[in-house]
Amino acid sequence: MAKKKKPKTDRQILMEKFEKDCQEASKARKANRKLREAYKSDSEKAENIRQKLIADLKRVWKHPHNPFRGFSASRDRYRQLGHFPEVMVTDLFGNHQEFQRAAGIRDARGTTKVKNLTAKLHAEAEILKYAKEYIEPYYGVWDRRTRATTGVKTVVVISDAHGKFIDPFAKEVMFDVVRMVQPDGVVANGDMVDFPKVGRFTEIPGAGNLSLQDELDFVREEIFRPLTNLCPDAYRIYVMGNHEQRLVRYLADTAPELADLRCLRWDRLLEIDEMGWELVFGGNWLAPRQGDRTRNIRRTWKVLHDCFVVTHGASIAKNAMESEIQRYGMSGTSGHTHRPGLWTLPTLAGKHLSWTSTGMLASFAVGKDYMAKSPSAWTMGFAVFTIDPKTKTVTPPPDPHRRGFCGIWRQDLPALESGPGSEGQTMVKRRKIRLDRPERPSIPQKLS
Ligand SMILES: [Fe+2]
Ligand SMILES: [Fe+2]
Repeated sequence: MAKKKKPKTDRQILMEKFEKDCQEASKARKANRKLREAYKSDSEKAENIRQKLIADLKRVWKHPHNPFRGFSASRDRYRQLGHFPEVMVTDLFGNHQEFQRAAGIRDARGTTKVKNLTAKLHAEAEILKYAKEYIEPYYGVWDRRTRATTGVKTVVVISDAHGKFIDPFAKEVMFDVVRMVQPDGVVANGDMVDFPKVGRFTEIPGAGNLSLQDELDFVREEIFRPLTNLCPDAYRIYVMGNHEQRLVRYLADTAPELADLRCLRWDRLLEIDEMGWELVFGGNWLAPRQGDRTRNIRRTWKVLHDCFVVTHGASIAKNAMESEIQRYGMSGTSGHTHRPGLWTLPTLAGKHLSWTSTGMLASFAVGKDYMAKSPSAWTMGFAVFTIDPKTKTVTPPPDPHRRGFCGIWRQDLPALESGPGSEGQTMVKRRKIRLDRPERPSIPQKLS
């Protein structure tokens, strides 16, 4: 008894038809190759054949025996099913993309650009909406205090903690100073968070293991909350740096439909609403290009007591302090360079102006990413300013090259060999460095 033949599946039937079409197309290509000679010297014939090719590509695009998912007029598909050889496409259209454009299958160059830009602006609009709801309400909340022009003011400025990369000893000294000075204001001058996972620089050893939640919890509970508790009567200003901008854009852009969840709201993540911090951001959240985002940081600044500017800064150039003082025409301070320093500018108009770069609160380990295989020029520091609004005099901390800089100047110490989380060993080494001040009160483990 003859074995009963298994019926073919629809897919097998379709594949057979497709292969048959491919064989016929191959024969047609061979036959049409001779047309090349006809159009080489006759432009009218060339146009005629161009139209035939266009019609042929449209046929391939909507080919009835298509065994693949979706329509395609790709180069590969045309090589299989096209009735004209590829060399004729090159002769008459230049390349396959132009061939597709002539057939109306691919967008014109300008249209693609417009579509890309529209998509980008749509994403930007989400970021703008997020910022309007969760950041802008915290603008100017301490304006009444920061505009005060009576009495001498003391302001502590810290910057560049870079989240969990903060140096534990630097943090301890900074808390001590804030506790002792009881300043009129505290300014967190940008880059208080790091977020290596959402940035371009992710080569810091161990950085890949830092979770966003861990870092946010750390910054909130180990930096902002103790600071708030140590000087509850001071005004508290948080100036946005490039790393803060990075996180806002990431949160708003990644899942805009989830952005109002408590766990994604910027104000709730750091509880700046409960702790009473003012946010400073002077740029435009609509920033599709990197250049726009850098400009945003340049536009982010705040004047305290009518004579002192705080800004994170956007330049890491050697003359960053000089250019900032020229830009603002006022005494001020910035971070971002991670190099503490002081620049003065004598003026005939009034008192001498000064610009202070606060250095960083982060440990040397944070520098490994940016300056691999070279000794880090970055140094820890922060500053206490005395401001007399009446005479518009700003007394910056002493020159950091001398002992007494209100912060830490310990370039002599080697960079940390291990990543974040190696506090124990580091602390032992650093406690050997004597600070020019009497007995330091011990810091309680948990500040209430
Ligand atoms: Fe920084
Ligand atoms: Fe920065």
